[in-house]
Amino acid sequence: MRRLKVAVIGTGFIGPVHAEAIRRNAGLADLVMVAGISEEEAKEAALRLNIPGYTSDYRDILKSDADVVHICTPNHLHYSMVKECLEHGKSVLCEKPLAMNSAEAAELVELADAKGLMAAVNYNLRYYPLIQEMRQRNMEKEGGEIFSLQGSYLQDWLLYDTDYSWRLESKLSGKSRAVADIGTHWMDMAQYVTGMKIKSVFAQFGRMHETRKKSSDGKDLTFSKAEDTAGYISYDVDTEDYAQILFKMENGTLGTLTVSQVIAGYKNYMEFRQSGTVSSFTWNSEAPNQLTIGHRDRANEILVKDPSLLHGRAASMSGFPGGHQEGYGETLKNLIREFYSDILGVSSSAEYPLLKDGASEMYLCEAIIRSAEENRWVEVEA
Ligand SMILES: NC(=O)c1ccc[n+]([C@@H]2O[C@H](COP(=O)([O-])OP(=O)(O)OC[C@H]3O[C@@H](n4cnc5c(N)ncnc54)[C@H](O)[C@@H]3O)[C@@H](O)[C@H]2O)c1
Repeated sequence: MRRLKVAVIGTGFIGPVHAEAIRRNAGLADLVMVAGISEEEAKEAALRLNIPGYTSDYRDILKSDADVVHICTPNHLHYSMVKECLEHGKSVLCEKPLAMNSAEAAELVELADAKGLMAAVNYNLRYYPLIQEMRQRNMEKEGGEIFSLQGSYLQDWLLYDTDYSWRLESKLSGKSRAVADIGTHWMDMAQYVTGMKIKSVFAQFGRMHETRKKSSDGKDLTFSKAEDTAGYISYDVDTEDYAQILFKMENGTLGTLTVSQVIAGYKNYMEFRQSGTVSSFTWNSEAPNQLTIGHRDRANEILVKDPSLLHGRAASMSGFPGGHQEGYGETLKNLIREFYSDILGVSSSAEYPLLKDGASEMYLCEAIIRSAEENRWVEVEA
């Protein structure tokens, strides 16, 4: 069978995670090139990850025979990089968020359609086996009619004013930060699990630090932490540290979502709770191999991830037998397997997030921002 040639742009936190997940789909693809911001960065990553080609100019990838490009760079570069890749006939897996605004995102959706190219956005968290299991059970209406959703996506890595990432600079990250960065993962997952779209939102934003400090030498890395403030400069922050969102879905289901990057002790905690007329489902990303199924008239169940006990797609998303833990790394492995299989024409059951799903998250972000600014309910554009 033909194998795809794949390149990755970006060697920071998520680029190497992609590289590893690509390697875990070795029967479908070969990782042939990596691009970094500089010769030094690209070469170091190529040596560390054993990638045959490297470049400090991602345009070399456009000219190469790579079939698929993974875009793992800061948000402000996504639109132009996806556009250039599509114009050069490459399939794309772009990190979230897809673009800086909905107009850019909509243009990319149209371009991919016009070019007839497969393109995806990395909302990988929908690929946890027990998220897939909830979706399967919802399709069979096992929990009855869904009428309420609750959840959160909580982190603490920006608690201090000396914590720095390019995500804190809206010109690089976008007009929303916590919601666009992690809230969109939750909303993608909630819409995927329930099969319903969020139609309107009422949001309030909070900011813990109006000004923050960053290194004066510009060498801060994502998830970096300053031990003291010597050698740091202050800058103003114009995006949210935390947000509270009320939402309504198309069938009238009500929801609440709390998003925070400044809640001490919560490293990367995504929780989802669904109420149905028969039973409830509760799951969180820090114990991702357990699903609590709540009952009124009998004892609650804890379903421990085990492919022999899961349904349909959920079983096929479990790479290991019961009792063997699976986590974040496996979500990207699963998404990439479906994406590449679709490109190669060896599978027709793919449910990976398309560019239109990435665009839909941009419309959601814009409605949430407008709601917070204008202190009112806002309809989400279709
Ligand atoms: N899906 C997920 O779970 C997940 C997790 C983390 C990050 N992300 C997304 O991935 C993207 C990158 O985040 P990160 O945390 O890896 O950031 P990072 O800062 O750790 O890494 C970004 C990388 O891009 C490189 N880069 C910047 N400009 C470049 C250019 N012009 N050419 C080549 N390389 C360039 C940087 O040098 C760096 O290696 C963001 O959009 C983020 O939202 C997604």
